[in-house]
Amino acid sequence: MADRLGVGFVGAGFNTNFHARSWVGVRNADIRGIADPDTSKAEATARACRNLGVGDPKAYADVSELVADPNIDALWICAPNYTRIAIMETIAEVLKSGKGTLKGIACEKPLARNVAEAKKMVEIVNELGLLHGYLENQVFSPSIVRGREIIWHRGAKVTGRPYLARAAEEHSGPHESWFWSGQQQGGGVLNDMMCHSIEAARFLLSDPDKPKSAMRPVTVNAEIATLKWSRKEYIDLLKEMYDNRIDYGKTPAEDFARANINFEDQDGNILVAEVTTSWSFVGPGLRLSFEMMGPEYYMQINSLEPELHIFFSRKVVGKAGEDLVEKQAAEQGLMPVISDEGLVYGYTGEDRYMVNCFLEGKMPEENFNDGLLVSQLLMTAYKSSEEGKKLAFDPAAIQDFVPKVARGTYRATDAIHTAF
Ligand SMILES: NC(=O)c1ccc[n+]([C@@H]2O[C@H](COP(=O)([O-])OP(=O)(O)OC[C@H]3O[C@@H](n4cnc5c(N)ncnc54)[C@H](O)[C@@H]3O)[C@@H](O)[C@H]2O)c1
Repeated sequence: MADRLGVGFVGAGFNTNFHARSWVGVRNADIRGIADPDTSKAEATARACRNLGVGDPKAYADVSELVADPNIDALWICAPNYTRIAIMETIAEVLKSGKGTLKGIACEKPLARNVAEAKKMVEIVNELGLLHGYLENQVFSPSIVRGREIIWHRGAKVTGRPYLARAAEEHSGPHESWFWSGQQQGGGVLNDMMCHSIEAARFLLSDPDKPKSAMRPVTVNAEIATLKWSRKEYIDLLKEMYDNRIDYGKTPAEDFARANINFEDQDGNILVAEVTTSWSFVGPGLRLSFEMMGPEYYMQINSLEPELHIFFSRKVVGKAGEDLVEKQAAEQGLMPVISDEGLVYGYTGEDRYMVNCFLEGKMPEENFNDGLLVSQLLMTAYKSSEEGKKLAFDPAAIQDFVPKVARGTYRATDAIHTAF
C-alpha cells in the first residue's frame, strides 16, 4: 500500500472549497494540484488549502497539466455538470500519451447530465482501468451512517427489515447561473438535488449484509413543477442576478420535484423511497431531512435541528452571509447553526473513505456504477412527470432520454396540463 495519496481537484468553486475544508479530517493524503480555467479561483483555493494545512497545491489553468503532474495520484472532479465528458476525454488523452500516474478518479454528483453521458463516464473510466468513486456525500453523513447501522442491527434484526425511507433536500436556489440552466445542468432541482435523496434513501433501505444488487428498482412515479421562480418578480430577479442569461419566462427549469420509487428485495418485499426536493424553500438555510420506518421502529434526521442555535435581536445588524449554514437566508432571530458542515453533510467521511480505497487499490463501494443507476432513476422520474404516469424502471427506455427541461421545451404550466 502506498503511504500517501496526492490529490488534484478539477474545478475550484463552491463544492471544491467544501472538500478542502473537510480535508482536515482526512489522513494520508494531500491536495497537490488544482485546475480551473479561472486561475484566480484555482490560486485562491490553493491558498485556502495551504492555510488549512491540507497541502501545498500548484494551480493550473488546464486539466491536462494537472493529470500530467507526476505528484497527482487521484482526481476529484468538482467542475460543472456540462464539463464532465470533455474532462474525462482530456484525462484519457493525457494518460494514453504516457503522461500521468493516476490510480483513481472520484466524481461529484450527479455523475452526468443524463444516462448517455453517465454511460460514457463509466465507459471511459473502465477503458483506463482506473478505480472510481461517486461523490455522494449523504451516504457518508454520520447521522445517516449511524442511524442505518442502529436500525439494521437492532430494529430490523428483531422485527423485520425497514420498508419506507423518506429523503428531502430543500433550499432557496443555487449559487451560480449554470445550475439554473436546464441545458448546462441537465435539468432543474430534480437532477441537481434528487440525486442525493435517491441515493440516501436507497442506502438506508439496503441491507448492510447483502450486496446492493439485492434491492432493485421496479417503478418510478414523479412530478415536477416551477412554483416560485416562474412568478414575474422572480423571473426578473433571476435576469438581474445573471445579466439576462437566465430567463425563466422562456426556458424555466423545475424548482420542485417529488418521486416515489418502489424497490423489490430478494424476498419479494416492496420497499418505498419517497423523495422530494425544492429550490423554493425559504427557511434558515439548506434543509436535509430523512426518515426510515419499519414494523416496530423509525428514525428521523433534520439538519435544521442541530445542537447549536444562536439568537440575534433586531439590533444586531450585519452583512448577509453563509457562516451559520449553507444557503443561509437571514441573520436575525433564533437561528440554527451547523458547527461543522463538511462533517455533518458527509464530505469528511466520504473523502477519507475514497482516499483509503485508492491507497489500498480497492474499488470504492460507492462508484460510477451507482452514479449511472442514480442517473437512470432521475431520467425515469423526468419521463414519468412528462408522461403523467407511473413507469416501470426500464434502463433501455431512457438510455437516450433527455428531459424537456434540458432541451428547453419545458413550460412552467406543464404541471397543470399533465394529469396522472
Ligand atoms: N455534494 C454536494 O452536496 C455538492 C454541492 C455543490 C455542488 N456539487 C457538485 O459539484 C460540482 C461543482 O459545483 P460547484 O457548486 O462547485 O460549482 P461552481 O460553479 O461554484 O464551481 C465550478 C468551478 O469549476 C470551474 N470550471 C468550469 N469549467 C471547468 C473545466 N473544464 N475544468 C475545470 N474547472 C472548470 C469553474 O471556473 C468554477 O470555479 C457540480 O457537479 C455540482 O453538482 C455537489
